[in-house]
Amino acid sequence: MKPVRVRARAKLNLILKVGARRPDGYHEVETVMQALDFFDEVSLVPADATAVAFSWAPGLSGPLPEAPDLVHRSIELFAAATGGNRFRAEVVKRIPLGAGLGGGSADAAAALLGLSESQGRLLRAEDLFALAAEIGSDVPFVLQGGTAYAAGRGERIRALPAPKQFWWVLGFPEFPMSTPEVYERHDELARPLMDADLDGLKDALRSGEPLRLAGLLRNDLELAAFDIRPELGLLKEGVVAAGAFGAVLAGSGSAIAGLCRDEAHGREVAGRLADDFPRVEVVESATRGAELVD
Ligand code: C5P
Repeated sequence: MKPVRVRARAKLNLILKVGARRPDGYHEVETVMQALDFFDEVSLVPADATAVAFSWAPGLSGPLPEAPDLVHRSIELFAAATGGNRFRAEVVKRIPLGAGLGGGSADAAAALLGLSESQGRLLRAEDLFALAAEIGSDVPFVLQGGTAYAAGRGERIRALPAPKQFWWVLGFPEFPMSTPEVYERHDELARPLMDADLDGLKDALRSGEPLRLAGLLRNDLELAAFDIRPELGLLKEGVVAAGAFGAVLAGSGSAIAGLCRDEAHGREVAGRLADDFPRVEVVESATRGAELVD
């Protein structure tokens, strides 16, 4: 049988407001998430037992997810929910681990979509999204993609209109960040949070003007992440110094995203960052999330 292949797109938090820690250990968040046309690829074939193999796309290297990973969990949960088959998955990675771009979540969402599509949509969309939320806070969004406001622990999403796409430079430091550690440091620091203008951001998204959007990027986790890794704060300043209209830490880090005017501007900025980061990518935002590949 021909494998079903799915594109697993990364996400970027344009605004991330972090609230109180809840009794279940998660934090209440308010965030605007944006899908990026920067993706891993997940292939699935039916198998006797669940198995997942990760590799890096040509020219890339780095640590790979350890078992039990989120793709494994997706296959097991989907099979339990549907009484269906086990699958073997191959994941070709481009999105680094510990970058804050939701790569692991994107792989899990892509696996869910592939399992659903290859078995005649055994689950209703709302049940698929409920499974996604069970796997991780960001999984519903990376399944849906586009642009969305999200609340709760990030799993309650509402699509936002964003008619134009934006170009980003992504700088990847050589070190990953641990999401639980950054949230923990955030609680310890207990500093006043930044102002975030959600309404202004929605207007800027509608306008499609990168200069307007650039001034509104906010991430409450920056203080904690920069406290753990002071060089991250300098790297963010470096992205703006290199010409980006604005920059923000991606989620809990470690990637820094710089907003640019267009692709040519993105490439110019990326060129100036070649000595600051071991890896720099220029990517466009995307109206889609997990997507079947023909
Ligand atoms: O949901 P997910 O498994 O991706 O979250 C990873 C970790 O990030 C959680 O275990 C928690 O420490 C932290 N987190 C949080 N509040 C959120 C989302 C994630 O504290 N809203």
